[in-house]
Amino acid sequence: MALAHGCQLPAGRRPQRWLAARPFGMTRRGGPIAPVLCQADHHRNHEHASARADNSQRQQERNQVADPMADDVNLPAALFERIDPSSDAFFYREPRLVKHIDDATIAALTNYYAEVLPKRGTLLDLMSSWVSHLPSSHADARVVGLGMNAAELAANPRLAERVVQDLNQTPLLPFETASLAAVMIVVSVQYLTQPVQVFGEIARVLEPAGRLVVAMSHRCFPTKAVRAFRELDPADRVRLVSAYCRLAGGFTAPVFVDRSPAGADPLWIVTAERADSIVSR
Ligand SMILES: C[S@@+](CC[C@H](N)C(=O)[O-])C[C@H]1O[C@@H](n2cnc3c(N)ncnc32)[C@H](O)[C@@H]1O
Repeated sequence: MALAHGCQLPAGRRPQRWLAARPFGMTRRGGPIAPVLCQADHHRNHEHASARADNSQRQQERNQVADPMADDVNLPAALFERIDPSSDAFFYREPRLVKHIDDATIAALTNYYAEVLPKRGTLLDLMSSWVSHLPSSHADARVVGLGMNAAELAANPRLAERVVQDLNQTPLLPFETASLAAVMIVVSVQYLTQPVQVFGEIARVLEPAGRLVVAMSHRCFPTKAVRAFRELDPADRVRLVSAYCRLAGGFTAPVFVDRSPAGADPLWIVTAERADSIVSR
């Protein structure tokens, strides 16, 4: 069966295990990365010094950066720009009954699921299609799928419930608080334009200690992937997904797991549990 994703992201380095735990702006030893001026700011500074800019101009500039931390729970909007910002309903109107990663990579994911997913309760396959990659050991789990294409979801034999919803239009999950044992997002997180809101909803719907599994590889639909996933290297993409968990709140510290099989598409997983301390959001 053909692979669907036309574009393979630049291979780059494989993420190292330490990267997932390293917050943005920190070095691997835990110290902050020294800030440097980007080119545009560097030029502006130089011109101001030589021209001895008057006070009103300086005040104007100060106002522009008056409180850069005021909105610090949000990631820069530029990370989430897309080449094709039109409605996702249009892009996903036709079903794609294809595999998006190699068979060996799917097998590695299924093995990982067998290790970490609960065998009972309700599992949400978020951004789902016609296959959920679950092991036969989990036949008793009830699986709900949410995705963009009704025909893809209808073809998925593991789903007991199917929801067609555009998460970029409505980043809310239509499920009860603390009602799900696990949530999985497979090779799809790169399409979320409001990921922190969606991850906040995931924390809300997970039971205490319920698990989130975000599985990533190196392919994408380039016009629909957000800029961060087109331009960052794999290690930074892993770090970004960890940041989604931290910024959303309600999760334990995210952990990075590399289950990439030899000679096949990589399998990079970020996983976290819903922190017990959350009662309601
Ligand atoms: C590459 S496919 C992966 C499908 C499936 N998770 C798998 O492992 O084969 C990307 C999926 O993301 C879903 N998706 C993309 N944009 C979405 C959006 N805005 N809201 C909800 N689902 C979306 C699509 O329905 C599509 O099935």
